Amino acid sequence: MKILVTGGAGYVGSHAVLALRARGADVVVLDNLRQGHAAAVPAGVRLIEGDIGDAALLDPLLGEGFDAVLHFAALSLVGESMQKPMLYLRANAAAGMVLIEACLRHQVGRFVLSSTANLFAGGDAPLDEAAAIDPGSPYGESKWMLERALTWAGRTRGLKSVALRYFNAAGADPDGRLGEDHDPETHLIPLAIDAALGRRPELAIFGTDYPTPDGTCIRDYVHVSDLAEAHVRALERLAAAPEGAALAYNLGTGHGHSVRAVLAAVGRVAGRAVPAQEAPRRAGDPAILVASAARFMAETGWAPRFGDLDTIVATAHAWRVAHPGGYGG
Ligand code: UD1
Repeated sequence: MKILVTGGAGYVGSHAVLALRARGADVVVLDNLRQGHAAAVPAGVRLIEGDIGDAALLDPLLGEGFDAVLHFAALSLVGESMQKPMLYLRANAAAGMVLIEACLRHQVGRFVLSSTANLFAGGDAPLDEAAAIDPGSPYGESKWMLERALTWAGRTRGLKSVALRYFNAAGADPDGRLGEDHDPETHLIPLAIDAALGRRPELAIFGTDYPTPDGTCIRDYVHVSDLAEAHVRALERLAAAPEGAALAYNLGTGHGHSVRAVLAAVGRVAGRAVPAQEAPRRAGDPAILVASAARFMAETGWAPRFGDLDTIVATAHAWRVAHPGGYGG
């Protein structure tokens, strides 16, 4: 199988490249390296620096003949998308449609989209695929637009696709080859680890008056290597799917953890309490977001291998300790 991975130098994409290579796939990475890191692409994998919206680059590339495209490349900061909505709609939705169109021109049979829980407004019970779509930001909306585009690419042109809506991707490759390195870093677990390691000032707990048992937001943290494996399963699922199938699945562990529970886990793993201070709510955060991945599990046999919060945190912690400067240092 020859597979193009857009955003393959980024956090989730690079872990997916490892999973694909472990199955013997011939992988090519397309990444503009604005968020991604060349050092996250394994030796022997061709890295093409460029944009997903560049049709002049895509035509000769996809003309080589690819069985599938795994599409991770995106701007992914929810808060920034509220400040710059058109940037997100252009960079994620409009450019993503250029990519989908190129796939149609070059008979790419299968497409897997990295989608998001930001499609949902949240709820007390684990969210399955029947939950109402109500994107919380232009970021979420841009992913929903791509899901819709894939539905139409399937219905009219036969493209088979899967949208995987991840909840909170977290952790790092258990063998220590890859980790999480964002600039700026906005995610809870790496920030909490850095605070515990004394590399940052105290962590701000965004909101302590949510309608949850301890007043802080609850999220479903799913290990990035489990997400990577889910992409392999999604490709297998599509092989057996009818022409034009446009599938979508929610992906998480089914278990939620509050911000305070995450800080406690980081404290256990680091052997030091996370210095933290209560702060006002962050705009746009739903109180509770937990996935029901029951459909994906039933249809593909996938199950999280690293579902336990302490394991997720331990893998993230090991990578940050070994790479104080991220990929650059
Ligand atoms: C968000 C998006 C998700 C997106 C991801 C990519 C939502 C609902 N989810 O996840 O779709 O793919 O970003 O960036 O928008 N927190 C603190 N202090 C901090 C940082 C975070 O208390 O310094 C809290 C947040 O309020 C939240 C939890 O920790 O409750 C997790 O936050 P974060 O890691 O930023 O992920 P989400 O915002 O849940």
